[in-house]
Amino acid sequence: MNTATRRTVIAGNWKMNKTPSEAAAFVKELAPMVAGKDNCDIVACVPFVCLPAALEAAKGTNVQIGAQNVHFEKSGAFTGEISADMLLDLGVNYVIIGHSERRQYFGETNETVNKRVLAALNAGLKVILCIGELELEREQGITAEILGLQTKIALLGVTAEQLKNVIIAYEPVWAIGTGKTATDEQADEACGIVRDYIKALYGAEAAEATTIQYGGSMNAKNCAGLLAKVNVDGGLIGGASLKAPDFTVIVDAAQ
Ligand code: PGA
Repeated sequence: MNTATRRTVIAGNWKMNKTPSEAAAFVKELAPMVAGKDNCDIVACVPFVCLPAALEAAKGTNVQIGAQNVHFEKSGAFTGEISADMLLDLGVNYVIIGHSERRQYFGETNETVNKRVLAALNAGLKVILCIGELELEREQGITAEILGLQTKIALLGVTAEQLKNVIIAYEPVWAIGTGKTATDEQADEACGIVRDYIKALYGAEAAEATTIQYGGSMNAKNCAGLLAKVNVDGGLIGGASLKAPDFTVIVDAAQ
């Protein structure tokens, strides 16, 4: 973390877990545990149907609530989709875009990720943009190229001003939900590579100001080492975000 030039963000990605009642109970359990821990932003990205209950439970706390995806059109014949305006109207301010599970199982591409990023930013949402290489790509030695491709395409048309509302989550696909975490050095190196791409696209000051998280089996045990790295500005946490005590340990490590 480099808290002098950028904000640390600890975000939970609940994926398809918890009902609305469970979400409300969880936020009520978590909020007192993380109260006053303001050296990082604390976000829980919950399933769409949990948003109202989670938002209500988070009122008056330092826990912010995010969604896990957003469609790129404003409205129309897109059965099952959710627009940025719908999220904003609820009071949501963060949205995850381009998670590898969306890319793997739901046909999302760099191009649709870019369209979603633009729609979300234009509407006024903060974006957690996920990128990351497959295990094979790491073995092939093309991690940097993949990260460059994903970053550049996702940010096409994003202005320097809008970039201030973008958090990048570096999530090596081989580390997600596998218990196989990147080493502290691998995470730092990859986040540094992404920062260099941001520098090439937007300049040094923007690169220094951009929050770049690590995600992929981050947990209560390994978070301190990862967060101690200068290029790792927080975490996007799946499994370990579902238990309030574990998530709190990660928030504590970011203080
Ligand atoms: P994990 O998930 O922490 O369970 O590996 C991270 C993510 O997918 O964002």
